[in-house]
Amino acid sequence: MEVIHTVAWMSQVARQARSEGRIAGLVPTMGALHAGHFSLVQAARRAADPVIVSVFVNPKQFGPGEDYARYPRTLEADREALEKLGVDILFSPSPEEIYPPGFTTVVSVEGLGDRLEGRVRPGHFRGVATVVLKLLEIAVPRFAYFGRKDAQQAQVIRRMARDLSLDPEIVVCPIVREPDGLAMSSRNAYLSANERRAATVLYRALETTQQAIAAGEFDSARLVAEARRVLATQPLANPDYVEIVDAESFEALPRLRGHCLMVLAARIGATRLIDNLLIEIEQAGSSPARAHCEL
Ligand code: PAJ
Repeated sequence: MEVIHTVAWMSQVARQARSEGRIAGLVPTMGALHAGHFSLVQAARRAADPVIVSVFVNPKQFGPGEDYARYPRTLEADREALEKLGVDILFSPSPEEIYPPGFTTVVSVEGLGDRLEGRVRPGHFRGVATVVLKLLEIAVPRFAYFGRKDAQQAQVIRRMARDLSLDPEIVVCPIVREPDGLAMSSRNAYLSANERRAATVLYRALETTQQAIAAGEFDSARLVAEARRVLATQPLANPDYVEIVDAESFEALPRLRGHCLMVLAARIGATRLIDNLLIEIEQAGSSPARAHCEL
């Protein structure tokens, strides 16, 4: 595995591979890698060669008072894991390399990027879109891989790629969970043992929602109330938002329809966690609508 630290060299190696007709796959990450990230790498390996993984803790997507300074940085362990997975290139640039003095360009996906996570974390998706566009331009992949764990982020990137007619295909992969249901996240490392146990309440809220949908409840307000009731059983959990939204626009839906999501964010102690449930409603003619959910 080649480790690259500069934009110029990454760009040259990627363009060389493309000129040889090779199909590159890019997996953008902020490191502190876990099985969720590895699932994206494996998806990339099935479709692409070379597989490029970027590890870059992007300062522009953290707000003031957020965890940029203490975000876990485990580059050596990440490097070893990626090597074992057969990754071809690890791209690990410094902040100055990505944002040289005088860098002032911002990519903003308006509307979609201002709701939910974007409202709680102003500027977050601008930071994400800006860095992802830059990484796509440097690595010129045919495919770029993202996790549904961060569903709104994946949709912001899909929208950016569509709006700007970007070349790479954006591939969104399923959520990888711990055995007790907690979605894997680099931020889970912040949780104390007590908080770690409490954190499963997000999954349980979504599981309860899934059961209610299977029992025929399609009304968003009632589903949200039920999920909030589950969250309220955990004293360490402090919900930020719980909403049912359209999977394209992330606008709130009064009733389940088409492709939608229940998205939720909650603080467990000082750590903010997000999770979501994918819901597909199938309506064939006059027969009753059928729901399919994916946790
Ligand atoms: P990071 O949080 O490191 O996540 C990198 C990618 O891994 C994202 O696409 C994320 O959705 C995916 N991922 C994380 N946990 C996952 C899980 N449990 N199951 C499946 N996929 C999971 O997201 C970012 O970094 C950054 O915002 C980035 C896109 C790299 C831009 O800086």
